[in-house]
Amino acid sequence: MRFDVVTLHPEMVRAPLSGSILGRAVAAGRLEIGVHDLRDVAVDRHRSVDDTPYGGGAGMVLRVDIVARRLAQLRRPDSHVLCMGPGGTRFHQSHARRFASLPHLILVCGHYEGFDARVEALCDEEISIGDYVLTGGEIAACAIVDAVGRLVPGVLAGTSAQDESFGDGRLEYGQYTRPKVFGGVSVPDVLLSGHHGRIHTFRRQDGLRRTRERRPDLLAPKPPPVDGSPDDD
Ligand code: ADE
Repeated sequence: MRFDVVTLHPEMVRAPLSGSILGRAVAAGRLEIGVHDLRDVAVDRHRSVDDTPYGGGAGMVLRVDIVARRLAQLRRPDSHVLCMGPGGTRFHQSHARRFASLPHLILVCGHYEGFDARVEALCDEEISIGDYVLTGGEIAACAIVDAVGRLVPGVLAGTSAQDESFGDGRLEYGQYTRPKVFGGVSVPDVLLSGHHGRIHTFRRQDGLRRTRERRPDLLAPKPPPVDGSPDDD
């Protein structure tokens, strides 16, 4: 799978995506990640990519012609284009699963006061990573590339992505390793029993208990999806 991130701050994106599991996946040829400076397509001698908003107001707005020029260079017939913004659909594990089955994801990062509204028409989806405002889309793009990239077959070892939180709409059970006792708190006996059936039951119940305590919203019955999209799970 290939990711291309379009940004005014390539250094903010390159570093987080070059270490650890994603870095190894790129080195092994399982993922390709391109990071592109929007200023490279600016035409004037100041390399400007933004301008003041029509109608007045504070800050600068990212120009649609600049984004369009960059996308024209990157887009392939099988590309899916996301723009990052707090006004987008809130990112969820089900998006990560859907995006992980695509061959090419392009992520456009907004900055300053956001981008010209006409950029939305150049993208397939606008995505937010949560109900808060970041200084730009770079951190959001990194979170999405990370969440999607780890689901691409061969990126994680073995079955690591199978039991995790949100996999079945619940939080993951608690994990334990050595030492057996720490601060007077012991590892639950059942995990030392070697009894796979009981361990499985304990973990299922522990995941359910955590979900009830921390994220009861995940267990609440949901209304049927409006448009039948798989994102509503
Ligand atoms: N840009 C600014 N805030 C954002 C958010 N919450 N999600 C995605 N992109 C953003």
